[in-house]
Amino acid sequence: MHEMIQEYAKRLKLSWIRENFHTVNIEDPQQYLLTLFEKEVKQREERKINLLFKTATLPNVSGNPFDWTDIQLGQGLSQESVLEGEFIEAKENMIFYGGVGAGKTYLSTLIGINAIQKYGKRVKFYTVASLANELLEANEKGTLTRLFNRIDKLDLLILDELGYIPLHKQGAELLFQVISMCYEKRSIIITTNLQFGQWNHVFGDPILTEAVVDRLIHHSHLILFGGESKRMKESMMMKN
Ligand SMILES: Nc1ncnc2c1ncn2[C@@H]1O[C@H](COP(=O)(O)OP(=O)(O)O)[C@@H](O)[C@H]1O
Ligand SMILES: [Mg+2]
Repeated sequence: MHEMIQEYAKRLKLSWIRENFHTVNIEDPQQYLLTLFEKEVKQREERKINLLFKTATLPNVSGNPFDWTDIQLGQGLSQESVLEGEFIEAKENMIFYGGVGAGKTYLSTLIGINAIQKYGKRVKFYTVASLANELLEANEKGTLTRLFNRIDKLDLLILDELGYIPLHKQGAELLFQVISMCYEKRSIIITTNLQFGQWNHVFGDPILTEAVVDRLIHHSHLILFGGESKRMKESMMMKN
């Protein structure tokens, strides 16, 4: 009987129940069944969240609370609403602008973590350079459609570090396709140390740049990361 129960549980894809049903105390049949279902659902949800984290490829975080002292939020934004990712629900974009070590990557990662953990959102973190490379590679291998489809299923695309490395012409065009694809359908966070006027240097073509900026800034919030570099502060403290 034990084996038959396991067999049925397997066919029904009830993996928690299959492995653990015999360990649950039976006093009342309803209570028993309720416990089995609750555990099964819980395990399924945990697995889903783990998978979302795995595919999101978010950077590791220190766990320090985020320091908002030098952060200027745009109108209509609060610390709470940013961290809770309200803009994701509204399919709006975020542009994080500021110097190195100001917390742009950190905040975007914290938003990503919350979106997955609390809301089961599909998130993907790329540096601009890594996405451009992946796009170029997929294009060569003939798997671009598959990559586009994956991106098309996201709730939040994080594009980190626009501006450190100029893109190749084809990389820039493919990146533009991604940004267009997300337009008004899903949210992008883009972090950059460059003002819009300098995005030319990255995209290499003023018309393409204008098209990118147009799509990104429509329905978007700008957050300014000021202050001196925290990374620098930390490394200075290490040296002393
Ligand atoms: N506002 C902040 N609050 C808490 N920690 C911060 C903040 N800004 C930077 N840090 C710390 O400094 C590190 C570097 O910041 P990072 O987010 O990589 O900067 P940026 O992406 O703007 O160059 C982070 O991992 C974090 O530990
Ligand atoms: Mg960064």
